Amino acid sequence: MTNTITTFKEQKLKGDKITMLTAYDYSTAKLMDNAGINGILIGDSLGMTMLGYEDTLSVTMEDMIHHTACVARGAKNALVVADMPFMSYQVSVEEAVRNAGRLMKEGRAQAVKLEGGASVCKQIKAITEASIPVMAHLGLTPQSVNAFGGFKVQGKSLEAARTLIEDAKRVEEAGAFSVVLECVPAALAKIITETISIPTIGIGAGAGCDGQILVYQDMLGMYSDFTPKFVKKFANVGQVMTQAFADYIKETKEGTFPTVEQSFKIDEEIIEKLK
Ligand code: KIV
Repeated sequence: MTNTITTFKEQKLKGDKITMLTAYDYSTAKLMDNAGINGILIGDSLGMTMLGYEDTLSVTMEDMIHHTACVARGAKNALVVADMPFMSYQVSVEEAVRNAGRLMKEGRAQAVKLEGGASVCKQIKAITEASIPVMAHLGLTPQSVNAFGGFKVQGKSLEAARTLIEDAKRVEEAGAFSVVLECVPAALAKIITETISIPTIGIGAGAGCDGQILVYQDMLGMYSDFTPKFVKKFANVGQVMTQAFADYIKETKEGTFPTVEQSFKIDEEIIEKLK
């Protein structure tokens, strides 16, 4: 089944949970697509998981376009959503539209995601009016890590919870087709999900959201620098990889790899003539 922003909305109406994961390369995107994932996000989390930065702030438009194009070539059915990196949409509406356009034109994304509520509604409206679907992102918005004073659960006070509900309504009004809720108390995320008509995609926001998203290295146990509380490890691929690398090193040093099975043959007569 081909996934589109329309099928996402239909899934919310039917109560069919939307599944999303992040990916940053062709092979991983292809594996997820074959497994039947609804959407793939090229998250600016690539700054941490792929590029080794401490946060997402250094990620550039060029980084995002490069990785989006890799994923788009591997994803045949999943909806491909690309993150707009820090400072690619905050400065002006015009820059936001131009950069969103680059992610579609050069990266072949089918939608873009940007962080923030009321403060970025002008951008959401203008990008949507340029026929580019926008996924909003509320709660813990990692590009604001310095303004938040760290990676913390959001919306815990009455005032903060009301602001989050208001922001969710505002991004819907501005034209967003869905919204990520990150690190939001489960009961509050459920209220937001029931309040707005666009799908909510949760990460650390409980089971009451219309869908879920995880960073793939987190759910596969491949990224050990920091593991948030909301992560479930569905496999320990990191351990499998480390063991395979160690086996390769051992067998190469011992001379037990490669064997004849991994080698190419040549006529013995030719070899004799070379001696
Ligand atoms: O950058 C990212 O991977 C994200 C998800 C965690 C939602 O924004």
